[in-house]
Amino acid sequence: MRLGKGKKCPVFLLLFMLFHVTFGAYVGINIGTDVSDLPSASDIVSILQTHEITHVRLYDADLHMLKALSNSGIDVIVGVTNEEVLGIGLSPSTAAAWISKNVAAYLPSTNITYIAVGSEVLTSIPNAGRVLIYAMNNLHKALVASNLNFQVKVSAPQSMNLITKAFPPSTATFNSSSNSTIYQLLQFLKNTNSSYMLNAYPYHGFIEGNGIFPLDYSLFQPLPPVKQIVDPNTLFHYNSMLDAMVDATYYSIGALSFSGIPVMVTETGWPSSGGVNEPDATAENAQAFNDNLIRRVLNGTGPPGHSELPVSAYIYELFNEDKRSGPVSEKNWGVLFTNGTAVYPLSLSASDRNTANSTSAFCVAKQDADPDKLLTGLNWACGQGQANCSAVQQGQPCYMPNSVTNHASYAYNDYYQRMHSLGGTCDFQGTATLTTLNPSYGSCLFTGSSNSSLGVLLSPSALAPSNPMSGCFSIIPGYKLQFILWVICLPLVLL
Ligand SMILES: *[C@@H]1O[C@H](CO)[C@@H](O)[C@H](O)[C@H]1NC(C)=O
Ligand SMILES: *[C@@H]1O[C@H](CO)[C@@H](O)[C@H](O)[C@H]1NC(C)=O
Ligand SMILES: *[C@@H]1O[C@H](CO)[C@@H](O)[C@H](O)[C@H]1NC(C)=O
Ligand SMILES: *[C@@H]1O[C@H](CO)[C@@H](O)[C@H](O)[C@H]1NC(C)=O
Ligand SMILES: *[C@@H]1O[C@H](CO)[C@@H](O)[C@H](O)[C@H]1NC(C)=O
Ligand SMILES: *[C@@H]1O[C@H](CO)[C@@H](O)[C@H](O)[C@H]1NC(C)=O
Ligand SMILES: *[C@@H]1O[C@H](CO)[C@@H](O)[C@H](O)[C@H]1NC(C)=O
Ligand SMILES: *[C@@H]1O[C@H](CO)[C@@H](O)[C@H](O)[C@H]1NC(C)=O
Ligand SMILES: *[C@@H]1O[C@H](CO)[C@@H](O)[C@H](O)[C@H]1NC(C)=O
Repeated sequence: MRLGKGKKCPVFLLLFMLFHVTFGAYVGINIGTDVSDLPSASDIVSILQTHEITHVRLYDADLHMLKALSNSGIDVIVGVTNEEVLGIGLSPSTAAAWISKNVAAYLPSTNITYIAVGSEVLTSIPNAGRVLIYAMNNLHKALVASNLNFQVKVSAPQSMNLITKAFPPSTATFNSSSNSTIYQLLQFLKNTNSSYMLNAYPYHGFIEGNGIFPLDYSLFQPLPPVKQIVDPNTLFHYNSMLDAMVDATYYSIGALSFSGIPVMVTETGWPSSGGVNEPDATAENAQAFNDNLIRRVLNGTGPPGHSELPVSAYIYELFNEDKRSGPVSEKNWGVLFTNGTAVYPLSLSASDRNTANSTSAFCVAKQDADPDKLLTGLNWACGQGQANCSAVQQGQPCYMPNSVTNHASYAYNDYYQRMHSLGGTCDFQGTATLTTLNPSYGSCLFTGSSNSSLGVLLSPSALAPSNPMSGCFSIIPGYKLQFILWVICLPLVLL
């Protein structure tokens, strides 16, 4: 689907949403572009906004993407390609020009927060280790010269393969033949308050383990006690391979006597399809992995050995990259097709994710809100927002009083109760507000009130949806007509 053109009913219905949460850990997504029918930059940004994706990583500094991301509310990691590393490492002025062209030119409207220098340089081009460190230093100095160094950090994603023996995590160390480079890398990260960027793939760990590790362990699924993976030195139980990988990285950093460098997972994911010799690359496993990953990250705790350090993660990746070479699975890491449809459904079941017993809060329309904005918000909530608006249809319990304010209150609240634990907010361009007063009346029961079907209330943590006001209904005039359209769209939304 090309956003902004057809205005079809939402088709990424079953997809999930990625957000910031309370503890500061977030889920982002990588955007690889080896795609034969890549949507335009502005269409990609619309897709991101539809899913309230708050963090993306680009593999380069594509001008169109950086422009389209401006004022989107999305934080951006820009990439220095491996091909660019040499030039930037050898020449401070090349580095300065790179910063000026690809970073300074877009700040602050495009919120560039990190520069990721190269991709797994220390394992893919070990000889370039020294030049990588030069490149990072040159870029950092150029940021300092532009007074951007507090806003933009420099780091370099590394492969998990840089750690020679990752299990048990407590004894993991970096490949000692890269000691001096890694030492300099860590020194740089420490000095600049930057994070260690880790590409960690339980999929590969599982395959390479050749049956040592249970599939469930790789997919964050619960394990029976006999199968639990325990570090014999610390006695920590590892429920997921990703946790073990992140801890192995922390312990490896510690083995070089560094501390206080946070680990950020810049790539992780699971392919949804593969060749005949790749039986574990299935949509079912990919769905389980990413769904559980989101849950795990939003939980806000770190791995067992460093539980106080929440770990953010970028899913690999947004689209299937059909032009990539290698095994079939290599083309199938995406969560979306380029037409915007989901490759596999990811659970939106908010109530599964949180059973907090905080004071009940309802999200309702402000009485004095601008009616046009209310209408837009109403349409969005019942459309892309996937609220269940059947109760405000004619003849249903919440139809009367037949006003936009009343209907918007119902829709906003239904959206909020469903999406809240996933980061959905009560804002709707400032037309919504939270209340502890149960707005139910007569037989009109608001979602979240004790008798309604979705009774679980979710703890408040409001973060404004950036720009939820585009999509299915926005160009269709007329209040009544939209209700008819909901009826058409709802079965799709609720599929
Ligand atoms: C940019 O991103 C940083 C880090 O997430 C955040 O603190 C800041 O508020 C963002 N700035 C804007 C203008 O969104
Ligand atoms: C360590 O790195 C060296 C050089 O990069 C490589 O040849 C070697 O295979 C690596 N060792 C392990 C165990 O991965
Ligand atoms: C690398 O560092 C580790 C930990 O400090 C040390 O034990 C090892 O001997 C070093 N290896 C080399 C080749 O310097
Ligand atoms: C790093 O953080 C420390 C304290 O949090 C601060 O004093 C220092 O200026 C920061 N350095 C950079 C380069 O951001
Ligand atoms: C968060 O994850 C940790 C580790 O998997 C788990 O022990 C803890 O119970 C989880 N907390 C919540 C609130 O889900
Ligand atoms: C989107 O693309 C996928 C894969 O090419 C295809 O299976 C699906 O039917 C398409 N959906 C729509 C609505 O065009
Ligand atoms: C939440 O539940 C716990 C135990 O079930 C209870 O101790 C606590 O007071 C409750 N908090 C609220 C805000 O109801
Ligand atoms: C939508 O809400 C109505 C009641 O208003 C309920 O009967 C129906 O089952 C709900 N649909 C879904 C899919 O939750
Ligand atoms: C909610 O359910 C209880 C019993 O199940 C009933 O007594 C009460 O009247 C209901 N409240 C509303 C507002 O319908």
